Amino acid sequence: MKVGLLGSGDVAKSLAAGFLKHGHEVMLGTREASKLAGWAGEHRPARAGALADAAAFGEALVLAVKGIAAADALRGAGAANLAGKVVIDATNPIADGPPVNGVLSFFTGPGESLMERLQREFAAGRFVKAFNSVGSGSMVNPRFAGGAPSMFICGNDAAAKKTVTGILDQFGWETVDMGSVEAARAIEPLCILWCIPGFLRNEWSHAFKLLRG
Ligand SMILES: NC(=O)c1ccc[n+]([C@@H]2O[C@H](COP(=O)([O-])OP(=O)(O)OC[C@H]3O[C@@H](n4cnc5c(N)ncnc54)[C@H](OP(=O)(O)O)[C@@H]3O)[C@@H](O)[C@H]2O)c1
Repeated sequence: MKVGLLGSGDVAKSLAAGFLKHGHEVMLGTREASKLAGWAGEHRPARAGALADAAAFGEALVLAVKGIAAADALRGAGAANLAGKVVIDATNPIADGPPVNGVLSFFTGPGESLMERLQREFAAGRFVKAFNSVGSGSMVNPRFAGGAPSMFICGNDAAAKKTVTGILDQFGWETVDMGSVEAARAIEPLCILWCIPGFLRNEWSHAFKLLRG
């Protein structure tokens, strides 16, 4: 599959390396492609370009920019380039400002989520929340003593979630489908929980697992 990743940070780079490892083609999109030249050179045949170039390249897309810039980045990518495509949304609506006793704040209010805003504005994209509540270093083939961790996903399009589940299978995750886009109201705040041990005790190597009775 050709995957266009919107982003130039740790998440975009980690996931791009994972897609390459599993036989996909990747292109990263940024407002400033020159800053990815070194990375792309070390990860051939990965490519880097403008947001719209990466969005046009991808049969499936990954959104991996700062949450506050997510809508702007998608506008830069071009709504037409999203039409009909799976958009894996790894973003979190983290507000500016330091955590309070390790607890981050979101710029979204109760009863809403960033992905609902994005799905509403870019209605032709098939958004699936994934990868938002684990560190970038553990996104691809995570190794934990407790076995494969759980990736909570949600979105309105069943076929899109099936595509993402196939990717998560390759990447070594157990997928837990939490339903429609509104479930992002629950999945996005898992990021806050995930970060607390990091901010309090500098522990950043963990992941969630759903245990069933
Ligand atoms: N870091 C993690 O371990 C982790 C784990 C799970 C989820 N996440 C989430 O994944 C997303 C990416 O995280 P990250 O740590 O890789 O990167 P980040 O530092 O949160 O964000 C950097 C990215 O945001 C883009 N950006 C910033 N302002 C922008 C604007 N005004 N318009 C367009 N793009 C803009 C940058 O684009 P340019 O290249 O154009 O400057 C760059 O690609 C975030 O939403 C984060 O909450 C992060």
